[in-house]
Amino acid sequence: MERTLVLIKPDGVQRGLVGEIISRLERRGLRIVAAKFMQVSRDLAERHYAVHKGKPFYPGLIDYITSAPVMAMVWEGPNAIAAVRQTMGATRPTEAAPGTVRHDLGLEVGRNLTHASDGPQTASTEIDLWFKQDELVSWRRDLDRWIFEE
Ligand code: RTP
Ligand code: MG
Repeated sequence: MERTLVLIKPDGVQRGLVGEIISRLERRGLRIVAAKFMQVSRDLAERHYAVHKGKPFYPGLIDYITSAPVMAMVWEGPNAIAAVRQTMGATRPTEAAPGTVRHDLGLEVGRNLTHASDGPQTASTEIDLWFKQDELVSWRRDLDRWIFEE
């Protein structure tokens, strides 16, 4: 079972798309592990996006992610990292496949609604950055056996 960090960015929150995006992850069969509605500090934003420091879009990205509250979450499932990125779609909404969140709900790369970890190492680092260990809930759904293979 793999875990991944998902953020519904300020545009998703402001546009009232939190429920829609969570619904898509739930319907996919992924299991929620943690959720926190929060205002992102500049310090957290800079740590989260440290890999992009120095790129032309970095200042705008920090302004964007700190501009209003986000919904930060951890989701789990088999291949959760790839599954969530697939559900979100390509970074640029106009390159995202139809049926994905970014295609269906967005237009601009700087208003692309969500973040999702891009690999096992970043997932682990990002989950530790955004959540304390005791905020992660390990649980089972009655439906799990109809979604997850042994
Ligand atoms: P994310 O980290 O947010 O899940 O998105 P991603 O992996 O698909 O894209 P990444 O390359 O990590 O970029 C992080 C976020 O920076 C903004 N961005 N703007 N103007 C640009 O060319 C540009 N490129 C990236 C996007 O908001 C992207 O999600
Ligand atoms: Mg990324």
